[in-house]
Amino acid sequence: MSAQRNGRARAVTRAGFLPMLARQVRTDLSTAPVALRRRLAAGARAQRAGNIAELRVLGARRVPRTVFDYIDGAAGDELTAERNQTDLRALAVIPRVLTGTVDLDLTTTVLGQRLAIPLLGAPTGLTGLVHHDGEVAVARAVHSAGGLYVLSSAGSRSIDDVAQMSPGPRWFQIYVGPDRGLVQSLLGRARAAGYSALMVTVDVAQAGARERDRRNGFTMPPRVTARSIAQGLRRPRWSAEFISRPRILSQAALLAGASEAAARPLAEMINSQFDPALSWTDIGWLQERWDGPIVLKGILRAADAEQAARLGVAGVVVSNHGGRQLDAAPSSISVLPRVVDAVGGELEVYMDGGVRRGVDIVKALALGARACLSGRALLYGLAAGGPAGAARAVSLLVDELSLAMTLAGAGSVAELDRSWIANAHSDGRTGWSTE
Ligand code: FNR
Repeated sequence: MSAQRNGRARAVTRAGFLPMLARQVRTDLSTAPVALRRRLAAGARAQRAGNIAELRVLGARRVPRTVFDYIDGAAGDELTAERNQTDLRALAVIPRVLTGTVDLDLTTTVLGQRLAIPLLGAPTGLTGLVHHDGEVAVARAVHSAGGLYVLSSAGSRSIDDVAQMSPGPRWFQIYVGPDRGLVQSLLGRARAAGYSALMVTVDVAQAGARERDRRNGFTMPPRVTARSIAQGLRRPRWSAEFISRPRILSQAALLAGASEAAARPLAEMINSQFDPALSWTDIGWLQERWDGPIVLKGILRAADAEQAARLGVAGVVVSNHGGRQLDAAPSSISVLPRVVDAVGGELEVYMDGGVRRGVDIVKALALGARACLSGRALLYGLAAGGPAGAARAVSLLVDELSLAMTLAGAGSVAELDRSWIANAHSDGRTGWSTE
């Protein structure tokens, strides 16, 4: 009796399943060409990436090795770059429950400017190597989510291009080189184009030892060698775009009269842009020439942050340049609380380095950062899928941030404080411990 019932049930299931399968195959076949085209489009592939790590893998497949290493690489043994991520991961977030929060408030203000999300696009030089839209694409991605973009003086798109093509909140980052006339001209252009604050990068007394770039023979502009041709052939789509719309030299280099023909190792180019003699007195020189707020990027010591506060600097970025400079520096997140304790009441403190997940932003904000900057995460997106990929990177970070806040029981960015954070290391090696 029961065997008979089972047999009937199987027959009914089969009868229902086979037509369903046939229907699905018919639909799949009829939409196959469109779906296939969509699947193969770079932007679409990036759209399907579920997190920043997946965008990184996709990005590595889309751009030549030398370009990927330029983004992904760091100084020396890349210990500091690794620490940025591992120390963020080592922190635990202790959720608060039954808060009844329905509407999340991700807004924050930076230097009086209201932002819908606590995320800034970090200044990155030569972004046009990754995709010809370069800084414009990243700025648009950040702006459309309600964040602020910081344009690098080593950027491959001009101050005016970025301002006109992505007219959202923006600051200008500068490397102060020995040619102060050039510095002044960049400041004038940035002010005229509506960049509201000046970010002065102070951790590049000399270019860090980026060993991947050296091994790859990375020069600016790229030199045509057997190796670069071989790499280019393996990435035909990138190569076709690069050849038709090359974005090679930075605006600072072009203004300084650099020639596109003169290939130089990247480190040499960076060194020509930075004055190793730069000191605190130069901050005064900049303040006299920039009639807006100044932010120092690359602060890791509380005493340096205090000095900045004494000089009337408006903000500091706790940063080790994504591990691309001193490869022994502590992770940004591990020193953030000390800097906040020293100057949090006097100036604004931001943080960058190792942000790959929305929850990383929660951790940094809970430890006192007003906002996070993101460098590589957005560049992986740009490499993976051009402008759509950069937008995907931003939306992944923001969605993850929202989910993490919801699950942590934090209704707003303003609410986050150290009570949310515990150090997951049993030996208390780094980070913050709850009292
Ligand atoms: C950078 N960074 C950087 N910083 C700066 O002040 N001026 C610049 O021109 C550049 N250029 C640059 C290029 C590339 C390819 C990278 C990856 C980084 C450092 C950047 O602003 C930021 O400090 C780090 O990227 C933060 O670390 P994550 O987010 O990349 O881990």
